Amino acid sequence: MSQPHILILGPPGAGKGTQSGNIAEEYGVEHVTTGDALRSNKDMDISDMDTEYDTPRAYMEAGDLVPDAVVNAIVEEALSSADGFVLDGYPRNLEQAEELEGMTDLDVVLSLEVSREELVDRLTGRRVCDECGANYHVEFDQPEEEGVCDECGGELVQREDDRPEAVENRLDVFDENTAPVVEHYRDHDAFVAVDGEQPPADVWADIDAAVRERVGDAE
Ligand code: AP5
Repeated sequence: MSQPHILILGPPGAGKGTQSGNIAEEYGVEHVTTGDALRSNKDMDISDMDTEYDTPRAYMEAGDLVPDAVVNAIVEEALSSADGFVLDGYPRNLEQAEELEGMTDLDVVLSLEVSREELVDRLTGRRVCDECGANYHVEFDQPEEEGVCDECGGELVQREDDRPEAVENRLDVFDENTAPVVEHYRDHDAFVAVDGEQPPADVWADIDAAVRERVGDAE
């Protein structure tokens, strides 16, 4: 079989990054994530795209969407070189969904569903390693030594957009812009709603079963 084309949708903190890592490993596909791509290029010059700010940084730190032209170009380039993929963080509005339809087809559309209260707890308590990007949580997933990454010894920091005001804004931006995208895909044959509020291993078991049913066994 050719490599699967998987889309993972869900609000900020739903576990898209966590579960995309599992999918990429199990199915041998590329993890295409607009959030990571933009974080690595926060200060790139986008002034020639007629945007309000000259770099992605200001949009991201406030929890607002980076302009479509910037993100569409990142995804188009990433998908053109990927055989199979799990796409995480895109599309985030109906215009991006329309762009995506012109770029590729989809075998599975996963929607992780989690309550707002749980999302706020997950995001405001998250800490990330500023060296390797590993995720921790101040209550649910603590490192062995406070403030130090178990994987690489790097410093654990709070993402600028995980501060409480930015989190509330990100969730509002999701409700306004991205929830309609989830509704847009809900009637798609490939759509699967997943209870993202379960423990991570149970979420993964549901996702793995859904992907296997639609695209067959991993290579
Ligand atoms: P992005 O990086 O995509 O952020 P996000 O969608 O807000 O997602 P997160 O990375 O915060 O959460 P996640 O769902 O991946 O959850 P995770 O697995 O980390 O985007 C950042 C910014 O970039 C945007 O705000 C925007 O500015 C810009 N951007 C990106 N794409 C764009 C686009 N298409 N258009 C315009 N702008 C764009 O898990 C979260 C936490 O919960 C972790 O601590 C994890 O350990 C924990 N956790 C995960 N699963 C569980 C579980 N089942 N139970 C308990 N804890 C769990």
